[in-house]
Amino acid sequence: VERNGRMGNTMQWNAGQALNDLEQAAKAALPEYVYGYFAGTAGGGESVQDAAAQWGDVRFRPRAFTRTSSRGTATSVLGVPLQTPVLAAPMAQQNAATPLAELATARAVRRTGSLLGVSTNTSVPFAKIAAEGVPWWFQVYVMKDRGLSDALVERAAAAGARALLLTVDTTRLSSGGLIIDPLLWPEVPGKTRLANLLEEDLSGLPGGATEAAGDLTLDVISDLRERSGLEVVVKGILRGDDARRAVDAGAAGVLVSTHGGRRLGRSVTSIQALPEVVQAVGGDCEVYVDSGIRTGDHIAASLAMGARAVFVGRPMLWGLATGGEDGAAAVLGGLTEELRATMAGIGADSIADITADLL
Ligand code: FNR
Repeated sequence: VERNGRMGNTMQWNAGQALNDLEQAAKAALPEYVYGYFAGTAGGGESVQDAAAQWGDVRFRPRAFTRTSSRGTATSVLGVPLQTPVLAAPMAQQNAATPLAELATARAVRRTGSLLGVSTNTSVPFAKIAAEGVPWWFQVYVMKDRGLSDALVERAAAAGARALLLTVDTTRLSSGGLIIDPLLWPEVPGKTRLANLLEEDLSGLPGGATEAAGDLTLDVISDLRERSGLEVVVKGILRGDDARRAVDAGAAGVLVSTHGGRRLGRSVTSIQALPEVVQAVGGDCEVYVDSGIRTGDHIAASLAMGARAVFVGRPMLWGLATGGEDGAAAVLGGLTEELRATMAGIGADSIADITADLL
């Protein structure tokens, strides 16, 4: 910009631009209805717009006289050691982004030392995901027919999932779900959904059995813990009181999330909810955040506000759609590099150095 003598012009480098460009490339590469499903939001998309603005409003108080030599991004979640606090959010229909679906995501996760979220609606059998050898959490939608979601949970645990991500913000599953057009996208048949439920699980059941239960109560947390022997992280919390109730009911973590703005147009944003959640749980569980995390600054701010790690959703799909495994690895690796640069700027030499006084 400077070399071209255009400093002060409207062209400014910003860290989110690379992901904006990637989204445009993905939009060009994907059938329109697939892009529409991936990018879609609830209502008028207000919470997504607000999130972008609010993350952009973060300002740091950088430290001087600090050692910033190594700037390692190593950390852990629920005791699992990772090389980065940038994690892959569970998302349905990754097979519409790339034929290998979660297998491509898993390989990107392996290359970056991250962690993989696996949706209830994955098109990939658990055994194949497990064979990739990365830590993964199974995202649970409790279904109207609890026997079905219980079967999924038991299979995920048996296959080696490290924890359960219990999504509590979606009382209607598959609303606005992807309608597969076999002419436009022949390799993604609609029936690849729910790859971990077998034909015999589903035969004879009434329609709607796999829809999300609309009557979740807190005891589901201990039920799932006992059934799976795994820790439960509650996904979709936006209030301190709900976070506290989840911890008291046995949750090992809460994920502050608006579901990427797909659940409710006019909800508070994750960045608005994060402080009250962190305060309410008071260190009794780990706190994670997602929805609108797009830059190293956003990640550093999340960690400074008390998050242990962040999940990234749509940018992973844009990476998968444009470059498969390589594209997804570029997103996770690029965001981790940006975090490293922010750490250098704010005077944090390790993840543990990213504390509230930096905001
Ligand atoms: C999702 N998300 C999601 N969450 C979940 O618990 N189960 C799921 O099956 C899905 N599926 C899904 C599909 C698509 C296409 C998107 C974009 C998102 C939500 C996801 O885990 C995460 O909360 C958000 O995507 C984070 O917001 P950003 O990073 O996309 O802004």
